[in-house]
Amino acid sequence: MIIHHLHGSEIFIGENALNSLPDWLGAHVTSKRVFVLVDHQTELSCLPLFISVMHSRYEIVKITIPAGERNKTLELCVYVWNRLLDYNAVKSDVLISLGGGMITDLGGLAASLYKRGMNFVHIPTSLMGMTDAAIGGKTAVDFNNIKNAIGLFSNPKSIFIDPVFLLSLPEREIANGWAEVVKHSLIADVSIWNDLPVDVFACPSFDLLLRSIAVKLTVVHDDFEEKGKRKILNFGHTIGHAIETIHLESRTVLLHGEAVVWGMLVETEIAVKKNLISADKAILIQQKLITFFCLDKLKTINGDQLINFLLQDKKNEQNKFLFSLITDIGNCSWNCEVEAEVILSSVQKFISVQ
Ligand code: GLY
Repeated sequence: MIIHHLHGSEIFIGENALNSLPDWLGAHVTSKRVFVLVDHQTELSCLPLFISVMHSRYEIVKITIPAGERNKTLELCVYVWNRLLDYNAVKSDVLISLGGGMITDLGGLAASLYKRGMNFVHIPTSLMGMTDAAIGGKTAVDFNNIKNAIGLFSNPKSIFIDPVFLLSLPEREIANGWAEVVKHSLIADVSIWNDLPVDVFACPSFDLLLRSIAVKLTVVHDDFEEKGKRKILNFGHTIGHAIETIHLESRTVLLHGEAVVWGMLVETEIAVKKNLISADKAILIQQKLITFFCLDKLKTINGDQLINFLLQDKKNEQNKFLFSLITDIGNCSWNCEVEAEVILSSVQKFISVQ
């Protein structure tokens, strides 16, 4: 097993990493009960293994919320706080988030604000969570149709990344997670790009998972509060978040990673128009994205709505659209100013805009 330390979090990565949890709790948490936050899917697919690993050493209080990004809300955060209060939870108790990015984002926020901060631990169960969402201390809920509008940087005491959970993931969730692995390759590690498999529905090898996690760890280590370099992790996310939000409003299910793939496609085009990357390299990248992710058509989006959502992007400063854009496979710049016309014409190349 591999152990990393990142801004106050201990991160355990490896097959059977989960088995270390009871001993870790024994050494770091005084309480003999744990609160475990799950959604309706991870309650079925992951909680039984979690309970068996705990070997009755702890009283387990389960808090279940509905699955899906549209439930990453303040209302469900309030629900978690009410459940914690029902059990008179105190700061020295621990809230363990067992799930994908939605569960760790919401659970991290709920725990960080409860009584000014109770202990919390993440156990990511999706590829998206293992390679990205659970690492780096970003906690948030969506608010007024703005993704991650309410949140704070707050690190879990520990993170247990055990690939065993990938085995129970539906294929669509695996492909969703590959989006962040591919993003890590494009912004920082060409070797991952070169080693991508043919099948987007196959789990990554442990080695590839580790290399992808290493990108995230290095970037966050260098710039935890996203004052500069960490912004490269947002490649594909500026357009991606806007597309995701438009779909959330229209009730069409588009997963985060799926939106990010479209975002990477469009933002690569923006990079060409800003003379940051050669057209040849961009075509190579875009063709690979289209074939690897088996991209089909996206429904028509409204250009004004898109620009309105982009105006809410947290990276913007002084009403300028700021993007993180790749300059090569494995290299990325941040704070690149892009004009609305360039954004719209780049979107139009791949998505029909009304
Ligand atoms: N998921 C982007 C970041 O952690 O900064």
